[in-house]
Parts: sequence; structure tokens; C-alpha cells
Amino acid sequence: MKDQADGLRSMVQSDASTGRETLMGSETQGSFPKVVAVTSGKGGVGKTNIVGNMAVALQNSGKRVVIVDADVGLANIDIIFNIHAKHDISHVVSGEKKLSEIMIKTEHGIKIVPGGSGFSHLTQLAEGEKLNLLSEFETLQNEADIIFVDTGAGISSNVLYFNAAADECVVIATREPTSITDAYALMKVLFNDYKVKYFKLVVNMVKSENEAKIVYSSLSGALDKFLKNVVLEYVGYVTTDNEMQKAVLKRKLVIDLDKNAVVSKNIEKIAFKIHDSEIRSSSNGSIKFFMNKVLETVTNN
Ligand SMILES: Nc1ncnc2c1ncn2[C@@H]1O[C@H](COP(=O)(O)OP(=O)(O)OP(=O)(O)O)[C@@H](O)[C@H]1O
Ligand SMILES: [Mg+2]
Repeated sequence: MKDQADGLRSMVQSDASTGRETLMGSETQGSFPKVVAVTSGKGGVGKTNIVGNMAVALQNSGKRVVIVDADVGLANIDIIFNIHAKHDISHVVSGEKKLSEIMIKTEHGIKIVPGGSGFSHLTQLAEGEKLNLLSEFETLQNEADIIFVDTGAGISSNVLYFNAAADECVVIATREPTSITDAYALMKVLFNDYKVKYFKLVVNMVKSENEAKIVYSSLSGALDKFLKNVVLEYVGYVTTDNEMQKAVLKRKLVIDLDKNAVVSKNIEKIAFKIHDSEIRSSSNGSIKFFMNKVLETVTNN
């Protein structure tokens, strides 16, 4: 395992002027997209719909958005955008396809990287496969302003890797007690095992902001007591809205059906807040560094 990590590191040099790591021989110009992992302890809390609608809000306002579907369970992103992926990230890992060949562009112009089951084997990739992934992800550098990673739920290793590698971790929770305790458990593992310190909280499926603030208080109260070094920032809330369910049944995004619906406006506000916020993690926002961190985490374990 050490040899693989060494092999990867030897491909990487540190750029002293920026503190960022870059692949040998490649240019460091261009701005780096912000990588935002959207995650939850418990499943079914609205991650995929929030990612999809945030992506549309930002893309429609002129930002370039990429979504990485890293949920190795059900391919939710495909469904809400009504797209059908012939190939997925496993074809990039094997070297059969370039990332540009498997990405699907939605009618909004959002680029989607279908994960399929391709991200479930990160721990078992051969060195050549890791390099395929690393160099292909590097090509996103000049193609996006923001990359959302729909990580799936829980504390499985691939969920943890993507959260550890991202610039921002956005945790989605609802009022349900299990959603709150599972969100806490996820942050605890990410802090203890991967030193992730900063999280953003979005509370979904509430009646009012007051309800969302109660969820925030209970989570931040528990963190203050038991995980003092973890910082949880409240970003916003999304109301429970029938329009969302109707859209899901039609395999549409609520923002496309009614951009003035309360739920669409809630998500739009959150999207801009996340896009505009300063990165607080130490990872510096490089997609190269992002994948490098993922792969290093894997090789070190
Ligand atoms: N704000 C909302 N108002 C009403 N219904 C909602 C809202 N957010 C999500 N839902 C409902 O919850 C369901 C689950 O949402 P979604 O698939 O986005 O969750 P998820 O966290 O991605 O789930 P998984 O963990 O299975 O990937 C949706 O089908 C939708 O019906
Ligand atoms: Mg989902």
C-alpha cells in the first residue's frame, strides 16, 4: 500500500506560491471550482433534490455547475434530471473512457458525472486506476465554478472519503430525531477519523425557520458539549412543500416547474449562500487536491 501512495505522491509536487499541490508538468492557471459535499447521516432527507435544485438555481444565474453522483446506492440524480447514463465513473477508472465522454449535460447546461457503482471500489483500485481518476478529475478544473457531490447517506467509507476531500461539507437534517442523531454521528466520525472541523447545516422539511433553528440548536448544543472543536454553521431551511413531492412524481425539479414556489426560493437562497461563502477548510479548493486527498486517504488506510 505504501508503494502506491508513494507512486501517487511522486506525481504530485507542491506549489510553494499557492500552497496547493499540482500534478507534475501541468499548469496551475485558472480558478479552482469549489467542491461541496452534500451529505446526511440518515437517508431520504432530501440531499438529491436539494443538490439538483441548487445546481439549477446557480446554473441559471450563469455559474458553471458540475454534479458528481457519488451515491453508490440508488442513482437518484439520474432520476430527478431524467437522464440515462450509458457509462459511469467505473469506465473512467478502467481507462476505457474520458471523464468528458461519460459526463451528461442537462438541458440547463449542468454537467453530471454518473457514479454508478464506480465509486464503491475506491479502496481496491490499482495504482494505474487511481491515476486515471486523478488526471481525469483534473480536467474539470477549468470547466466549473462549483462542484456538488451527492455523497449518499451514512458513514460508509466512500461517503466519508468524499466529505473529507471536499472544501465544504453540507449536512442535511430534518426534525426527525434519528436524522439529528445520525447527523451528529456522521460529524463525529468525520472529525475523529478525518479531522473535518467545519460543517454547514441545512434543515429540510420544516414548517418555519423557527423549527429549523431548534434542530440547529440541538445539534450545535451536542457539539459544544462533546466535540468542542467542531464548528457547525446554520445555512438555511427548506419548507415542506407539496410542490416538491409533485415534482418528484413527475421526475422533474421543482425549480423548473415553479421557480417562485416557497421551496424553490428557499433552496435558491441556500445555493447562493454556499456558492458565495469563503472556504474555511484547509484544502484550498483545488479539484486536483480534492481527488488527491481522496486517493491518499484511500492509500493510507
Ligand atoms: N422540502 C420538501 N418538501 C416535501 N417533500 C420533500 C422535501 N424534500 C424532500 N422531500 C421528499 O423526500 C423524498 C426524498 O428526497 P431525496 O431523494 O432528495 O432524499 P435523499 O436524501 O437524496 O435520499 P437518499 O438518502 O435515499 O439518497 C423526495 O422524494 C421528496 O418526496
Ligand atoms: Mg439521494
